[in-house]
Amino acid sequence: MGKYIIAGNWKMNKTPAEAKELIEAIAPLVKDATCDVIVGVPFVDLPVALEATRGTNIGVAAQNCHWEKSGAFTGEISADMLQAMGVGYVILGHSERRTYFGDTDVTVAKRTRAALDAGLTVILCVGEYLEQREQGITSEVVDMQVKVALGGVSREELSRIIIAYEPVWAIGTGRTATDLQANEVCAHIRGTLASLYDDEAAKAVTIQYGGSMNAGNAESLLAQPDVDGGLIGGASLKPADFATIVAAAK
Ligand code: PGA
Repeated sequence: MGKYIIAGNWKMNKTPAEAKELIEAIAPLVKDATCDVIVGVPFVDLPVALEATRGTNIGVAAQNCHWEKSGAFTGEISADMLQAMGVGYVILGHSERRTYFGDTDVTVAKRTRAALDAGLTVILCVGEYLEQREQGITSEVVDMQVKVALGGVSREELSRIIIAYEPVWAIGTGRTATDLQANEVCAHIRGTLASLYDDEAAKAVTIQYGGSMNAGNAESLLAQPDVDGGLIGGASLKPADFATIVAAAK
């Protein structure tokens, strides 16, 4: 299966000075990690994050990007700008972007295209709302999100796609999916990738679980065969907890 990757999603938290402090606290705790470690920081923290992670095993992600290279898009940041700074990763399609800022499967696909064209690696977030799970349409929802986002993505480019399965009802709620629920959907996504590409390509993709993953539940979630990592919100702001999750990813 895909290589283990633990990524922190800091959301709208930490000033640049605080970001530097947090990375300096995390770095020594994760230096011997056997998985890849990423911090997803606010745009304004990117310079300090790149500086503070230099010479460490921590990668830096932005939390969104626009699909155009430049132009009259007040307030937006392009994938090319991120690439030019030295940012390696971008989180796209997070449920908070979809729910509060109008992102759709189509705009997520456009952002994904731009990010890949700029040379970035994408953490593509998918996941169902509680009502959708209760209606029994989780697989359909997640398939649609994955298929639209990957519409124009080649088999070769798939190596720069990480998928984060994040049931919306589990994000920031303390209500984690069970190990089996998380694995079931991650395995389903892998099957969808196999149908879009092939088995070998699907196996190589890192599929993370996200949604109230923490120091206490990470080990058993990450032990599931199709869960290759985590996208961590709240717990990524606590160095010891984040390090415990990183240590559990092996
Ligand atoms: P959470 O957030 O770990 O705080 O639930 C996860 C995410 O939104 O990526």
